[in-house]
Amino acid sequence: MLIAPSLLSCDFSIFREEIRRVDEAGADFMHLDVMDAHFVPNLTFGAPVIKKLRPHTKKPFDVHLMISQPHRYIDDFCRAGADIISFHTESDSDNDKTLRLIEERGVKPALAVKPNTPVEAVYPYLDRLYMVLVMTVEPGFGGQSFMPLMMDKVRALREEISVRSLSTLIEVDGGIGRDTIKVAFDAGVDICVAGTAVFGAKDAKAAIDEMKALCK
Ligand code: DX5
Ligand code: ZN
Repeated sequence: MLIAPSLLSCDFSIFREEIRRVDEAGADFMHLDVMDAHFVPNLTFGAPVIKKLRPHTKKPFDVHLMISQPHRYIDDFCRAGADIISFHTESDSDNDKTLRLIEERGVKPALAVKPNTPVEAVYPYLDRLYMVLVMTVEPGFGGQSFMPLMMDKVRALREEISVRSLSTLIEVDGGIGRDTIKVAFDAGVDICVAGTAVFGAKDAKAAIDEMKALCK
């Protein structure tokens, strides 16, 4: 299991040090939650902040766009150093056009689905996706409870990926920790985002090691 700590739960006054801390703790990806106070009722940071953080780790930047018009900002996030860009099928942007913008920049594209959206919404684009992000909470805030019903979507998606012989990764985001990660692993998840479980722990490395050890 790969672990992507969500920086949403870090101490933003020492953002750079927090990135270094979870890098050393064994983070596989850095999950960066971009919110516009429109697509979700919360506001975080944008491309200029990501650009400044980029030199401080070699780990891939997994940028999760929770914004209404992602197509308008793809160029900015690619230039800022995103390695993976996830945008929501529920956004106002055209999926095909937005994917093409990401592809043209040589960045890995991903589509995200909110809890009430059927996972089949990503199927027309699946062959082009590096990853599918299945939300296991309503996007907007860290610290919410994991929705186990979303594992039905993960299983269906895992089956579809296998039938098509693809190598698309499945990521889940929201409420992942020591009590929920095994359920996600058993359903076929490749990457778990974890905010509270990593940044709320006294020892980030111990928290990451424990979650990985539970997935066996
Ligand atoms: C929620 C964000 C998540 C969030 C996860 O909208 O997309 O990445 O930070 O936080 P936890 O792990 O605390 O649920
Ligand atoms: Zn996220």
